Amino acid sequence: MASSRMKSWFPGTEYPLVISAPMEGVTNPRLATEVTKAGGLGFIQGGRDFAPASAQLKRLEDQLTQARSLLTAKSQGEGPNNDDNDPLPIGVGFVTFSATAKQHFAETTIPILKKHKPAAIWLFAPSPDAPDTLPTLIDALKSEAAYSPKIAVQIGSVAAAREAVSHGADIVVAQGTDAGGHQWASGASVVSLVPEVRDMLDTEFPDKGVAVWAAGGIADGRGVAAGLVLGAEGGVLGTRYIVATESDAQDYKREALLGTSDGGSRTVKSQLHDHIQGNKNWPDLYDGRAIITPTYQDHAAGVSLDENTKRFEAAREGGDLSRMVTWSGTGVGLVREELPAAEITRRVREGALKAITGLNASI
Ligand SMILES: Cc1cc2nc3c(=O)[nH]c(=O)nc-3n(C[C@H](O)[C@H](O)[C@H](O)COP(=O)(O)O)c2cc1C
Repeated sequence: MASSRMKSWFPGTEYPLVISAPMEGVTNPRLATEVTKAGGLGFIQGGRDFAPASAQLKRLEDQLTQARSLLTAKSQGEGPNNDDNDPLPIGVGFVTFSATAKQHFAETTIPILKKHKPAAIWLFAPSPDAPDTLPTLIDALKSEAAYSPKIAVQIGSVAAAREAVSHGADIVVAQGTDAGGHQWASGASVVSLVPEVRDMLDTEFPDKGVAVWAAGGIADGRGVAAGLVLGAEGGVLGTRYIVATESDAQDYKREALLGTSDGGSRTVKSQLHDHIQGNKNWPDLYDGRAIITPTYQDHAAGVSLDENTKRFEAAREGGDLSRMVTWSGTGVGLVREELPAAEITRRVREGALKAITGLNASI
């Protein structure tokens, strides 16, 4: 049964599975372990630089060590009583478009993962110019008899889901275009993406037992319940956890998110959000959704990138943060207060159960 499958894949989690997305600049061991202790599955972000001596990999080791101690500390109250030999009941996300992924993942990253044993690995954003990166990473993860995490691959199309599963993914994270942050530049919302991916898996890979998680625009229990109805076995929330008490997000981002409603008209998908920050390394296949700022309005009015960048930098240097990029999904209007991550997790799960039982009762 789908309802018990996630509980057996991730012991200690409760139905329905609420997942906090790995988010660069946001997630950390405290946030992830609080989600897990509340019966969800928390992710940290492991980075995108897999080169030997990568500072990101050193940070990953530190984060995994800290997560283990947060999960074993007696003062932390209820939750998994985790011991060094058990899988660590959190996940790690990696961004994989860098050439260092294929070159070095097996040599630099697998030993860290093997030592700390996070229960799930989440891969996102391979470069279209390096189609062999994803199979190389999945093969490396599957080659370790002593460590077998569930492998989740975040995708934005049915074709990408098919490819991920053909290479051995256990979970497909169907990321709809309502999502905050980076995503496929062209795609669909979870309403059509999740069921079409589910149908494809049932038809083309009926014996593989692959699970689907829904991501993008989900900010409360109703969104998770909708994802389940569409065929998902877990709901992923990113934007909602940016304002968790434990997140690393700066105050101006929290204020921007809490002050924004009507996310469909107040956020926009664009590569400008990266380009204005001088970040041109994401492949063109991807863009990102963020809150609309004066920078985006200037861009839409025809201001050149050069001139816009000058305005962006002058504002930042003058202490005006209104042009800063705040990644956000369309669900931002449902994000109304800062709460501890455990409380968000419980409220979202309870909200999902209420939505499901409410519908059932009205039949
Ligand atoms: C601030 C921010 C940072 C993100 N960073 C990552 C990341 O590092 N790796 C990743 O796979 N996805 C990342 N994402 C995308 C999430 O995995 C997820 O798809 C998204 O947050 C879901 O949509 P929602 O924000 O509407 O809940 C990020 C999203 C946000 C909002």
